[in-house]
Order: sequence, then structure tokens, then C-alpha cells
Amino acid sequence: MLVNRTATSNDEENNGEMVVTPWEVKGKVDYERLIKEFGTQPLTTQLLEYVESHTDKLHLQLERKIFFSHRDLDTVLNLYDRGIKFVLYTGRGPSGPVHIGHLVPWIFTLHIQQKFGTRLYFQLTDDEKYLISDNLDLKQTRKWSYENALDLIALGFKPEDTFIIYDSEDIDLLYDISLEVAKRITFSTARSSFGFQDSTNIGWVFWPAIQAAPCFIHKKLTGENVPALIPAAIDQDPYWRVTRDIAQKLGYYKPAQIHCRFLPGLGAGGKMSASHPETSIFTMDQPDVVKKKIWNAFTGGKGTAAEQRKEGAEPTICSIFQYYFFLFEEDNAKLAERERRCKAGEILCGECKKDITEKLNAFLQAHQQRREKAKDVIEQYHVKR
Ligand code: TRP
Repeated sequence: MLVNRTATSNDEENNGEMVVTPWEVKGKVDYERLIKEFGTQPLTTQLLEYVESHTDKLHLQLERKIFFSHRDLDTVLNLYDRGIKFVLYTGRGPSGPVHIGHLVPWIFTLHIQQKFGTRLYFQLTDDEKYLISDNLDLKQTRKWSYENALDLIALGFKPEDTFIIYDSEDIDLLYDISLEVAKRITFSTARSSFGFQDSTNIGWVFWPAIQAAPCFIHKKLTGENVPALIPAAIDQDPYWRVTRDIAQKLGYYKPAQIHCRFLPGLGAGGKMSASHPETSIFTMDQPDVVKKKIWNAFTGGKGTAAEQRKEGAEPTICSIFQYYFFLFEEDNAKLAERERRCKAGEILCGECKKDITEKLNAFLQAHQQRREKAKDVIEQYHVKR
């Protein structure tokens, strides 16, 4: 089931079936099927070449199809070639600490921002997380907004081009746009797109209008009417479907999207998720914690070393291999060699785990230092600066 689910379902009754909604992702995610069922477009070789012609070299996340699907990316690039710049828009639901899976689309967003010289609007949805969660109050989600913003800034975004929106604090900037949007989305559309039920609280029902608002905020702030391009994981797609339907009626461009896959967790199957801390690497994890989590990670290894040397292992199901693929081995030849050696039984899981622990800890240490420095400059990124 793809939509029609707002309450979180439990694993027993789910039977491993794929569920992908803005609030829940489980089961084995079939990305080809999502393209069909969500009605998005695959990123074709031709379109990738077009992107490449603007960016010197194709970003790793495009080359490896980590970003795999889109809507209107071609339209946005055509407009760009005719002198109409786009703005970038993405965001984060601040329900807890940031893990490395969250960083994947943000790293890509930074790349696009740098190559195209575009502005980024970044929405922190303390209101959303408060409304949909049983155990978080607004004070907590506000605190996480601040904490999560530090992670974004630590990646290297520059304040001149980066505008962070803290929903509950900046609601005055969003509210009139949200009203325009809300007025044109019927309850029937919202219910079928998001699966609202009789028991859904009414805050949640209005909320999609607030996630839509940053798609259009650039015009209000600068007077320029330009399209927004949204790099984000594909689970956010229902928001964009309803927003695209009404954008032109309101005199705006339809927001375009480019969709990425989920970084798997360290367990067997499933995406990295803060609700499973033992299989997630958080940006603030300390080296010994990382070591322990990696040591316990699910791999494609065999029961004994002798067996593995003889038969080889399975990188395709290995969580550790995915981290090399998504983030930590940028050199294609080296990645292929690691895969070959794994399949041939020439390396054992312990070696891969040791290597990835070192890479992760080096990355996290540098990130944590930049994150600490971000505390001094965070105000410069506020949309109301
Ligand atoms: N709803 C998103 C979440 O829960 C947060 C968000 C708001 C977002 N605006 C966005 C994510 C735009 C991606 C793009 O994480």
C-alpha cells in the first residue's frame, strides 16, 4: 500500500509489504514500482547528459542513480537556459537528531546550488512533527529544529544563498501562501493523497498547505516568479502532487522534483531511521559508538571465515557496502574492486567494517567541528535575517 495510511502500522500485520508515505517507510522499497505508482519520470541518460553539460562532471549521486526519478527537471533546466533561474527547496522534520541518511540529499542539494548559483529555502517543520507525533511537544521539536539546522550549515552552505524557515517562528511568512493553497485543495483530494481518516487531527489535515508554501515564497520575498526544484527522498511526493495541481491556478510555476533513494540502515533491510538508533549513524555519534554499531551491522557474509573465503560473500545485500556506495567510496574503480574481492572471498567482513569505521569517524569528526562553528553563524541563515 502506498498511501491511505496515516496511523503507523505494525510489522506483524504488514508482512514485509512496501509502505512509502511521508510518515512511514517500510518493507523492501521497489523504486521502479514507485516511479509507476507515483507517476514520476525516471532520470534518462539523455537528461543526465543535459545536467552534466551544466555541471562539468555528473555528481556521484546521479551517476549511481541514488537520485533516480524526477518531475519537470527538464522544464526547469530549459527555463534556466533561457535565463529563468530556479530556486531550490528542501526540508527536514525535526523529530530528533540527524543521521547520515538525512545528509545524502542535502549533500546533493549543495552541489546543485554551487553549480547553478541558486538560492535554497530550507524548511524545518517543528509544527508538522508536533502535530503528527504522540510524544513530542512543540518545545522539543523547536529544539530539534535548531539542532538540525546546525547539521545543514555544517555541510558548507553559505548564508548569502541559504534561507532557513523555522515553521512555528516564521509562520507569518508562510501563512498567506498556505491559505491560497489550502483554499484550492479539497478534503477529498487530501484524503486520497495522504490517507486521512476520521481519527486524524485537523491540524494534520491543513498541514500540507504549509509544506507547499516554500515552493512559492521566493516571489513574495523578491518579486521574482521562478520555479522551485525540490531535491528530496521520494516519500515526500504526495505533498508535491497536490501542490503541482494548484500551482498554476495561483500564478506560480509547478514545483519540480528530483527524488532520491533511502540510505539503508545497518540492519537487514529497511531505511536508516532515527526510531532504530542501533542501526543508524547519527552525526553526533562518538567513535566508540560508531565502532560498536558497525561491528553489529548486517552484512552479506557467510557463517564462518573458511566458508566465506571459499564461497565469497554478497555485497548486494550488505549494509556496509551500501555506505561505500552512497557516501564513502567516490572512486568507481575502487568500489568495483571491493565488490569483486568480496564476491571472490578475498576480503572478510571484518576488514570492510574496520575500513568503514575509520572513514565514518573521520567524516563525523570533521562534521562535528564544523557543526560547532555553525552555532556562531546560525542567525545569518534565518529567512528573517
Ligand atoms: N515533511 C518533511 C519531513 O518530515 C520535512 C519537509 C518540509 C521537507 N519541506 C520539505 C522535506 C521539502 C523535503 C523537501 O521530513
